[in-house]
Amino acid sequence: MGRKILAAGNWKMNKTPSEAAALMDELVAKCAGAKNDVLVCPPLVCLPAVIEKAKGTNIKVGAQNFYYKDSGAYTGEVSAAMLKDLGVEYVIIGHSERRDYFKETDEIINLKVKQALANGLIPVLCCGESLGQREDGVTFDFIRMQIKIALRGVSADDVKKIIIAYEPIWAIGTGKVATSEQANEVCADIRCCVKGLYGEEIANDMRILYGGSVNKACAAELFAMSDIDGGLVGGASLKSEDFSIIANA
Ligand code: PGA
Repeated sequence: MGRKILAAGNWKMNKTPSEAAALMDELVAKCAGAKNDVLVCPPLVCLPAVIEKAKGTNIKVGAQNFYYKDSGAYTGEVSAAMLKDLGVEYVIIGHSERRDYFKETDEIINLKVKQALANGLIPVLCCGESLGQREDGVTFDFIRMQIKIALRGVSADDVKKIIIAYEPIWAIGTGKVATSEQANEVCADIRCCVKGLYGEEIANDMRILYGGSVNKACAAELFAMSDIDGGLVGGASLKSEDFSIIANA
């Protein structure tokens, strides 16, 4: 059995709850019967409305963030258990925007991966190099380091649930998509890294997405590559027409 393609939308800090509900009405209609699996990750406050709209449809719902502690004096944060209780199934972890703007380290990302799994959430674990790292020729080394630290202490049984997203930072929100070959060679190397850690079967079954300016025009070519199993889509996931094309690419 091949790996099923996943079209995952990362809405980032866009849409109020009422706007999110309206976008969901469009997505539910346009993505019904989509060829690929479909996931949307709205802002935290939009989750209740989006989960309500997603009920009984083919659209899965994920969060964009949470804090790795169980509970306590962490003003402003939400826990994995809170998300789970709300009906959230997936969570993005280690996005480059969280690493850059909110100073999340590989160690924090590892704690979040373990906490998500412990609470029954499926991590969408992001990794990716900067332009400088690519130019320095350290892309593979850097991403292998990110993956190895993020997965430290994660059992083989748990790692099977994880989805990895390769998102080169220079391609995010820039309109500069990696070529299919560039994206595929890194996704293949991530798979090879997972194989080294957990063996061939787990590596072969793992879904590895590409993210970074994925749009309706390039999605089909990217998703046809041997080691790319879908996309983590930012900007284009906010347009129902475009996202529905990606959901069928
Ligand atoms: P983009 O964002 O599609 O707008 O480049 C992708 C992401 O950051 O997940």
